[in-house]
Amino acid sequence: MSSTDLIDSHGRTVRDLRISVTDRCNFRCRYCMPAEGMTWVPREEILTFEEIVRFARICVERFGFDGIRLTGGEPTVRAHLPRLIEQLAQLGTDLSMTTNGATLRLLAGDLAEAGLRRVNISLDSLHPDRFEKLTRRDDLEKVLDGIDAAREAGFDPVKINTVMMRGINDDEIVDFARFGRERGVTVRFIEFMPLDAGGEWNENLVVPADEIVERISEAFPVAAVTRGSEPAERFRYLDGGGEIGVIASVTKPFCGNCDRVRLTAEGEFRTCLFALDEFDMRPLLRGGADDEAVAEAIAVAVGEKWAGHRIGQVNFIRPSKSMSQIGG
Ligand code: GTP
Ligand code: 5AD
Ligand code: SF4
Repeated sequence: MSSTDLIDSHGRTVRDLRISVTDRCNFRCRYCMPAEGMTWVPREEILTFEEIVRFARICVERFGFDGIRLTGGEPTVRAHLPRLIEQLAQLGTDLSMTTNGATLRLLAGDLAEAGLRRVNISLDSLHPDRFEKLTRRDDLEKVLDGIDAAREAGFDPVKINTVMMRGINDDEIVDFARFGRERGVTVRFIEFMPLDAGGEWNENLVVPADEIVERISEAFPVAAVTRGSEPAERFRYLDGGGEIGVIASVTKPFCGNCDRVRLTAEGEFRTCLFALDEFDMRPLLRGGADDEAVAEAIAVAVGEKWAGHRIGQVNFIRPSKSMSQIGG
């Protein structure tokens, strides 16, 4: 079947699908969910593998999507994940996952064998105490071992996502740069966005990407690499020690090049990370709608995709869902 580009009303072609496979997580990160009292979506409301694969297939066949990323919650807590990956891999797109890394020593081999190509691993501190405070789990060693397991399983590249928060972990910028150089992984420094469950975000917590690059460059000089459509600006070490990335969602929004949409674990379709409206695809996927009807619903939703988020503007409204419920 020939595909037609899916173009939103701002002229952007949408071709990247992020699928949350569960809202559950084996961590309780402070900026992602409350310590107690998190209510999970009931099992029967979570999309089945068949429903997920069908939705993804429609995106690929009808609209030429070329990237699929699995997110959560924590995607690896979904049972039988390699089975889903095997089916998604047949669609022939780039296939990646964002994970907290804690279970990769156990799972990386099976995930790679099933057809997963790359992983991004979230890690915000290299200090065990601080790591535990941020994630409410004493699992730093497991994550570090998971990073090694990911490389050993052949994922390439392995990227580390480090959300920088002023006064919380910004004293580790150069340590993280050194860590990436030593372990052969690309560390991406991410500006903190107002999506934290606790509502603790304020602009003073944001460490601007330019400052991060400057601080790294003083220790290890870098030069900019030409940017594609991805959120990260990339820099390479002049001594050949690899690369870093910075994701300046707050100080330099990249919404003008945004090519992504999201499907939550329970089947809500979101056309912006910060969207206030969602389009419920589950009734269609479960109610016998044909591919044509699902494709039409996707096109209608994308037609309403926002030009961009409004962080920092007076009319910004924080989504009521946290990152774990939206899917990272
Ligand atoms: P690559 O394909 O490896 O470049 O992945 P990615 O960077 O798109 O995905 P990842 O899940 O690793 O996301 C890293 C960070 O990018 C997240 O922490 C967010 O801060 C940011 N990000 C991801 N998607 C979006 C988005 O749709 N909008 C905005 N504003 N930021 C996003
Ligand atoms: N701001 C920026 N990035 C965030 N992440 C989670 N919450 C935030 C936030 N408030 C990151 C995670 C993960 C990715 C999917 O999003 O660390 O790497
Ligand atoms: Fe795209 Fe919305 Fe993220 Fe901007 S904030 S990059 S429009 S998803």
